Amino acid sequence: MKTHLAALALLGSLSAAALAAQPITLKVDTAAPGKAISPDLVGIFYEDLSHAADGGLYAELVQNRDFEYSPADKAGWHQLTAWQVVHLDGARGTLAAQFDRPLNANTPHYALLTIESPDGQVGLRNEGFDGIAVKAGENYDFSVFARRVSGASRPINVRLESKTGELLAEAAVPAPTGTWAKYTARLTAKTTDPDARLVVSSSGQGRLALDFISLFPEKTFRNRPNGLRADLAQAIADLKPKFMRFPGGCLVHGNGLGNMYRWKDTIGPVEQRKGQRNIWNYHQTYGLGYFEYFQFCEDIGAKPIPVVAAGVSCQNTDARFTRGWGKGQECIPMDQMGAYVQDVLDLIEFANGPVTSTWGAKRAAAGHPAPFGLEYLGVGNEDHITPGFRERFEMIYNAVKAKHPEIVVIGTVGPNPEGHDYVNGWKIADELRLPMVDEHGYKSPQWLWDNVRRFDAYDRSKSKVYLGEWAAFDDKRRTTLRAAIAEAAYLTGLERNGDVVSFASYAPLLAKRNHTHWNPNLIYFSNTEVFPTIGYHVQQLFSVNNGDSYLTTTVQEPAPADFAASTVKNTAQGAVILKLVNGANVSRPVRIELAGAKRVPTTAEFTVLAGPDANVVNDYGSPRTVLPSTNRRPISASFTYEAPANSLTVIRITP
Ligand code: AHR
Repeated sequence: MKTHLAALALLGSLSAAALAAQPITLKVDTAAPGKAISPDLVGIFYEDLSHAADGGLYAELVQNRDFEYSPADKAGWHQLTAWQVVHLDGARGTLAAQFDRPLNANTPHYALLTIESPDGQVGLRNEGFDGIAVKAGENYDFSVFARRVSGASRPINVRLESKTGELLAEAAVPAPTGTWAKYTARLTAKTTDPDARLVVSSSGQGRLALDFISLFPEKTFRNRPNGLRADLAQAIADLKPKFMRFPGGCLVHGNGLGNMYRWKDTIGPVEQRKGQRNIWNYHQTYGLGYFEYFQFCEDIGAKPIPVVAAGVSCQNTDARFTRGWGKGQECIPMDQMGAYVQDVLDLIEFANGPVTSTWGAKRAAAGHPAPFGLEYLGVGNEDHITPGFRERFEMIYNAVKAKHPEIVVIGTVGPNPEGHDYVNGWKIADELRLPMVDEHGYKSPQWLWDNVRRFDAYDRSKSKVYLGEWAAFDDKRRTTLRAAIAEAAYLTGLERNGDVVSFASYAPLLAKRNHTHWNPNLIYFSNTEVFPTIGYHVQQLFSVNNGDSYLTTTVQEPAPADFAASTVKNTAQGAVILKLVNGANVSRPVRIELAGAKRVPTTAEFTVLAGPDANVVNDYGSPRTVLPSTNRRPISASFTYEAPANSLTVIRITP
């Protein structure tokens, strides 16, 4: 028996060796002009889940700055969550949440400090989102709205301190009057501390009302006010995404009608924005709102693709906060649909309307008189396709088409690339002749390999496809090299079908360490670090090596099931770009024939992402084991390349 097993093992290793020795022949037709494909294939999908916005990309350092947290956001949360009262120099006093004479009706709660002793300071301390990370020598912009309710008015002291109370920075703002007013100060950190606290205090017997206590790093991405965390935004910008879909996901259609994302709540003075429960079980401030999204898209050169709800809520609605479990999809009552459709039209005016229009004027007031150049609008997200959905979707679609024929409306075909919602979503798309639909698919690495040719069979006369959410779910939903390589293989299929697949975005984009509601994600982060996954590099390699036409790329039969390839031409860059994906655990020789090439340069740029072990991940605390590396190598009209085990290779050929 032992001998038999040994013989079998030897046979197995021999066939692996034989597999490795047998070259795969790949022919690229470089003479023909190629098939026109979307030059904007790879972009991003941004949703505020796993603290992607509040506590993440949105650079605000103070948690619950407007005292609007509540148990509806998360069990156990309240108006003073993340805040504690502090007594300095033996002072006596209390901290309470109040709502009498608020700063504004949208944010009705504020903090009331009652200072009972004539001496010493009473204040409140904020713990930030898992602490406040500050760097020595850097500036932090503090602001607060304050009103002296009773007693003597004294200046407000502001301190950044370590967890143990060591002073890191301090400033003061003038004594508040009896009317709400904004006070600002700049703090400069003396020491680097990843886990600081903000303390706001005052003295003098009496009561002091404080609201919207905010602290931003001076250095936000592109130095925008109310801006974004620079390192995280840069990691996104480095993907060179051609578009950005936002603000969700499930967040858009919401956990019941009351939780639907209403874009108008997210613009205007930030202290007046009416935040609400985040469907992912925390609080969304809307500090990162529609204006900031459009601005970010412009800053990173990504086409904005906002998504609005199709007049229905999420079918998976968890009704803990309303009327019992699982009430499913809710539809906006028909007598409210007119107003809802108008909101959608107003969004287009906000993005593109002249400054003389009502909503264009609001964009200009926010600091952007020029239009944002909106071209696409998503309507619906993975909705259950029901008569109620269809009726509302058609109302929105017809209204947008009539008033803004220049806008490409993207419909929805459910959460899976098969099944009831997929079939019926496509039926609607066919009947209405929709320009584009949003398909989703979270699948195993093997499914992606098995479906590399999925879009080859799509009918070119039908709607174009936006693959709005997709990712490989490997074992335990880890972001392994195996998953990343399967994603690369699938992307070769998307490039080959770039005439029908216009856009594709991995999902989700961001997740905060210890607050991860969903796995896998493209980028993980903590308050001080950013961890791009291996899949990040795959998305980046396809995004920066995009093309506008596809060159026929043929793998000689029998083509191995774990090998994929694509070739694009980037006319502006004068580049022919080959992508080879080897999903085997062994390296393989690939014979590449550049058929019809008039002149082949002697070298090309090779970028390789590879690793011997498909199970590895680039994760917190572990070394970033798999990173792309680039060098130049000789090539000719027909050359052999040894594709490493578990690899994506990008070969850029420029004259
Ligand atoms: O990407 C995470 C979630 O997956 C999205 O919110 C939703 O659209 C999908 O189910």
